[in-house]
Amino acid sequence: MAEYLMESEQEAERLALKTDFQRLADQARWAGITPGMRVADIGCGSGKTSAFLAELVQPGGRVVGVDASEQRLAHARQNYAGPGVAFECRDFYRPLTGLGQFDFIWVRFVLEYHRIQAFAIVQNLLEILAPGGILCLIDLDYNCLSHFGQSERLNRAIGGVMRQLEEEADFDPYLGRKLYSWMYDLGLEQIGVDLQAHHLIYGELNDTDAFNWLQKVQVAARESGYPFNEYENGFDGFAEEFRQFFADPRRFTYTPLIACRGRKPTGA
Ligand SMILES: C[S@@+](CC[C@H](N)C(=O)[O-])C[C@H]1O[C@@H](n2cnc3c(N)ncnc32)[C@H](O)[C@@H]1O
Repeated sequence: MAEYLMESEQEAERLALKTDFQRLADQARWAGITPGMRVADIGCGSGKTSAFLAELVQPGGRVVGVDASEQRLAHARQNYAGPGVAFECRDFYRPLTGLGQFDFIWVRFVLEYHRIQAFAIVQNLLEILAPGGILCLIDLDYNCLSHFGQSERLNRAIGGVMRQLEEEADFDPYLGRKLYSWMYDLGLEQIGVDLQAHHLIYGELNDTDAFNWLQKVQVAARESGYPFNEYENGFDGFAEEFRQFFADPRRFTYTPLIACRGRKPTGA
């Protein structure tokens, strides 16, 4: 299993902070979640999403949050385990059949970290989806790439970091656009696609966006291996210019979020 790109001691906190119940409920209901379902939350991170999904399947449903990080699972068990919510440490590069069968599989902001094997991971997940069950895949497109108001050199450096992450860290900034065709190839039925703005940032920067984006810079950009030759003092110069650009209320940033849902054929 490759190292997770955003690995840091603050990662459970970053994931929990950016998880909003209303957004999640809208997305999950759009995808077809209903009370009573058995749900797998794959790459559950902090566990907050799993607990929210569990609310949506009451009465009678249950959620298993699955992640490979013992550290994030410890956070999840401490904060979010309870009736109808459990957590399992598993690597989704390996068979998951021991977990049982699910009516609804939720995979949000996970596949983009697995550019090369993402399709194979989806195939693996279909093994634990019950016939007639729903698969919901949600990822970003043009991830971290859509800004206006930055300098030419900052733009070059951001593009360079993202290319480096694609080539060296298995990250896919364009994963969102692939989801529909993969579901089509896998023979899923009743496929639906939704497109929304995940980030839409203009004007004063709020604390959550500030923390989330500065973590992206400090963890992913710093570790990317990109040389930051545009800056005399390398990464530190880049980080400072990014911080100033992002704090400027004139800056405009958006990221498209693509959600795709499909049903496994009952004959499968
Ligand atoms: C960005 S987080 C997902 C956040 C969460 N799904 C949400 O919507 O907020 C990606 C998660 O995938 C987990 N992950 C990465 N590789 C994995 C693997 N091979 N098997 C299981 N989980 C993995 C990471 O530990 C991390 O917690």
